[in-house]
Amino acid sequence: MLYFVVTLGCALLILFLLLLFTWKNGISPTPTSNKIRSVLFSNLPKVEGGTIVELGSGWGNLAFPLSKKYPHCKVIGYENSPVPFLYSALLNHHSNLKIIRGDFFEKSLQGVNLVVCYLFPRGMEKLREKLEQELDVGAQVVSHTYPIPEWEPKEIIEVNDLNHSIIYLYEVS
Ligand SMILES: C[S@@+](CC[C@H](N)C(=O)[O-])C[C@H]1O[C@@H](n2cnc3c(N)ncnc32)[C@H](O)[C@@H]1O
Repeated sequence: MLYFVVTLGCALLILFLLLLFTWKNGISPTPTSNKIRSVLFSNLPKVEGGTIVELGSGWGNLAFPLSKKYPHCKVIGYENSPVPFLYSALLNHHSNLKIIRGDFFEKSLQGVNLVVCYLFPRGMEKLREKLEQELDVGAQVVSHTYPIPEWEPKEIIEVNDLNHSIIYLYEVS
């Protein structure tokens, strides 16, 4: 009986935290689909070293393969929702990957070479201002599904999925 009560309590707490942060962020921790991920990874830019940041790294669906693809880079995933953060932080065994709990709007992006994100329309305008203020010329940004308002992508890739999802590749000039 105690086991049942504890399990139910944990499940309800997890559900509550997921809903709370989905409401707070304006987006749920929906992972990038396998199809989009596969196309995205075939088109990611070459980065020889430096820092790669994923904004809102969720369950690690992009952060883990990013750390494998760029073994000579430091990869950081920022995630503020506690459940996906804990899940991905516990599963992380990549020495070049750090999953950090926190609001990425409060983290500096200065000196970052590549930013990867899958976010939501409401956040993109605020993100644009942050990227413009903090990224150096030559830094690359890859966003899928939602573009960065007013930015001209250097490449647009349409994914052959049900939603015709779009991957946007940018370079700060
Ligand atoms: C659509 S999910 C994408 C997850 C992951 N990037 C992927 O592609 O599989 C967006 C993630 O961003 C996180 N997020 C949204 N706003 C955030 C913020 N201000 N700081 C940190 N994480 C945030 C959400 O909690 C969610 O996990």
